[in-house]
Amino acid sequence: MSHPVLDKLGLGAVESGSYLGQGEWSKTTDAGVLEPVNPTTGEVLGKVHASSKADYDTLMARAEAAFKVWRTTPAPKRGEAIRLCADALRTHKDALGSLVALEMGKSKPEGDGEVQEMIDIGEFAVGLSRQLYGLTMHSERPGHRMYEQWHPIGIVGVISAFNFPVAVWAWNSFIAAICGDITVWKPSPKTPLSAIASMKICNEALRAGGFPDIFFLFNDAGTELAQEFVDDRRVALVSFTGSTKVGRTVGERVARRMGRSLLELGGNNAIIVDETADLKLAIPAIVFGAVGTCGQRCTTTRRLIVHESRYDEVLAALIKAYGQVEGKIGDPTDPANLVGPLNSSDAVDAFLDSIAAAKAAGGKVQIGGEKIERKGFFVKPAIVTGLTNEAEVVQHETFAPILYVMKYADIADAIDMQNAVPQGLSSAIFTTNLKRAEAFLAASGSDCGIANVNIGTSGAEIGGAFGGEKETGGGRESGSDAWKAYMRRQTNTINYSDALPLAQGIKFDF
Ligand code: UN1
Repeated sequence: MSHPVLDKLGLGAVESGSYLGQGEWSKTTDAGVLEPVNPTTGEVLGKVHASSKADYDTLMARAEAAFKVWRTTPAPKRGEAIRLCADALRTHKDALGSLVALEMGKSKPEGDGEVQEMIDIGEFAVGLSRQLYGLTMHSERPGHRMYEQWHPIGIVGVISAFNFPVAVWAWNSFIAAICGDITVWKPSPKTPLSAIASMKICNEALRAGGFPDIFFLFNDAGTELAQEFVDDRRVALVSFTGSTKVGRTVGERVARRMGRSLLELGGNNAIIVDETADLKLAIPAIVFGAVGTCGQRCTTTRRLIVHESRYDEVLAALIKAYGQVEGKIGDPTDPANLVGPLNSSDAVDAFLDSIAAAKAAGGKVQIGGEKIERKGFFVKPAIVTGLTNEAEVVQHETFAPILYVMKYADIADAIDMQNAVPQGLSSAIFTTNLKRAEAFLAASGSDCGIANVNIGTSGAEIGGAFGGEKETGGGRESGSDAWKAYMRRQTNTINYSDALPLAQGIKFDF
């Protein structure tokens, strides 16, 4: 018997983790088993057979063959394929959103929101499929024309994290698909069922529409196949979302073979609240940013930098709000709850370790900071004061709901503090002062890939390019012109004259 949410999506209690193409899921049963755990209960949710080396070889060979066909399919036609995927996701939004909530542990509205992001990026990709524009340039030579065009790059490898188990794949694979690429996906071992369900929904829609295979999937019992994947020269681009530690290794290994990587790594995101801030906006933004998804977004608000004149007021309002949130921590599939569990018992340990380290460094836990004694991996989100920005625990990203609140007197110092961490993903200022807002967004302001005014650090829209600087890895995916990472640029010069002038005025007479 499987869970009713799995039944709704046509998933059994035991699933194959390898989609080999041609409508075929692998029958391998001897390459290890993944056992995703329901973080609300700590119980195993289902079993997924991991992929064998033979599965990997089969699906990579088929992906290579698929690319040869897909790259010549007109881009607007490729868009039509993604339109079918987005339509199918609309049909299954409620069920897939519930599965994401169940397997990852985020709230049901956030699970549904994640599926909505898949639909939105799908629609963005459909429009984009008619807009993969290159520039034309004026040649310095008479009778010559120059232009650039964008060609598909090949196989895109997506390695995604447990916290956005489906949306991040869609950001990559839907854009890659309209660019003419084939995607091979290795999801987090903690959330394979959400990945399998997404693949089934999209691949069935593609097959029903008469489209070939463009999405493949494997699940690794250990890290052997994942390492082979990263080193595999057939994978033109590796898009990795996860920790800075693992991302550094991925980036180095891909660079060694001169492949491309797109890295979406850790964040240590701060909000500045200045003396003019509207707290009606700031408080809910801080609370959602810090405790939403139980602090497990890469864009989660981890640091708060408050002008000294508003410090007491802000801290009191936050403690009150956290007290209210504590009453709404529980089963994430119950829409009455705002916060679910952490994803694993390891995450609970990391949370408790950071709280202990914060206390040892002289920090004061104002509220929360404890494990909740019940089944599953529940904690009380924490607010910690009394630490400086330089404290080791503040500099480090703990993937859990801990908010470090600090004071400042001068806005220049606040911006320096915001920037003085190794990561550079998301940032925000709450101010009603126009000059302050512009200073925050200027070249001398926030050094992050995302900088917001009067909204929080998390919950980025798909239309913009998503990613960050420094140890966040420098990658950009999702909207804007992030599609260019999934294509290769070719500069073309055409001579339609009867002469052969050389560039730079060079004469070469013989
Ligand atoms: C992530 O946490 O890996 O900005 C991605 C957000 C989401 C994406 C987060 N739209 O919160």
